[in-house]
Amino acid sequence: MYKIIEKKELNQEVTEIIVESPLIASKAKAGQFVVSILDDTGERIPLTLADWDRDLGRITLILQKVGFTTKRLAALKAGDDIEHILGPLGHPTEIENLGEVYCVGGGVGIAEVYPVSRAFKDAGNRVVGIIGARSKDLLILEKKMKDVCDELLITTDDGSYGHKGFVTDVLKDFLEVIEKSTQTKYPALVYAIGPVVMMQAVSELTKVYGVKTIVSLNPVMVDATGMCGSCRCTVDGKTVFGCVDGPDFDGHKVDFKELEKRLKLFVTQERKVK
Ligand SMILES: Cc1cc2nc3c(=O)[nH]c(=O)nc-3n(C[C@H](O)[C@H](O)[C@H](O)COP(=O)(O)OP(=O)(O)OC[C@H]3O[C@@H](n4cnc5c(N)ncnc54)[C@H](O)[C@@H]3O)c2cc1C
Ligand code: FES
Repeated sequence: MYKIIEKKELNQEVTEIIVESPLIASKAKAGQFVVSILDDTGERIPLTLADWDRDLGRITLILQKVGFTTKRLAALKAGDDIEHILGPLGHPTEIENLGEVYCVGGGVGIAEVYPVSRAFKDAGNRVVGIIGARSKDLLILEKKMKDVCDELLITTDDGSYGHKGFVTDVLKDFLEVIEKSTQTKYPALVYAIGPVVMMQAVSELTKVYGVKTIVSLNPVMVDATGMCGSCRCTVDGKTVFGCVDGPDFDGHKVDFKELEKRLKLFVTQERKVK
């Protein structure tokens, strides 16, 4: 059993829970995730390790209420238990001192890009964060991102806060300025996490400028141990499993169309239980 210590609504769609889990907290690294199973009847769902406190033995999970299980998890209260949490899973993000790294997060992807941004900062990089949401009230973790980024740019689709438009618009502006400049260099890496369409747009953009780009893929996962094949994706023309080979992959080599299609495989069944 894993006790929920704290629960906070970050906005009407996104809930943060802090859960007692000393073993996972002791091993957690940026880019990794857990699989949670709420109770005997619960399905397995993957959630990114959004933060952890090794001293207190706690992990933070941030979930967007999109369907049956995320809504059930978000309805739990402090003091309630989650029956199983398995992790940390997946390869940690490769963190090194590269010079300058742009960390791009969209929607609930901001929760996932935060620990990665912090790890790149701790490794000595200059970190530029570009985070976006549909509107101001849906933007999460601005303060936490500010704390770990040397520069933080914010976008909202409706222009209610920060730059009006998408994270890719701001990224494009940066890359265009660098292209024309003799003083500034392209970042060594762009790391992007968010909706598939956003990760695809970031990857297509950076490919034009030849900037290495890593994306964190979110295929449907069941066992998350490489046994069921549910999370298979195509990267560089080869089949990979998001759970054990990823979740980080070279964005320039991902077949995003296939990923998008596979994410919709069970939509009919999901609608029945919503
Ligand atoms: C490595 C990884 C990390 C993730 N981290 C987070 C996170 O930190 N916060 C967060 O809010 N979401 C995260 N997700 C997505 C989250 O797992 C899904 O939103 C959740 O499983 C949806 O379940 P549901 O029953 O609420 O919704 P459903 O109605 O069952 O599904 C809604 C949509 O979510 C996706 N989905 C459904 N089941 C799964 C599954 N087992 N695995 C992956 N995607 C699924 C499908 O696209 C589906 O159409 C992550 C996914 C992956 C693969
Ligand atoms: S989730 Fe089953 S192989 Fe990855």
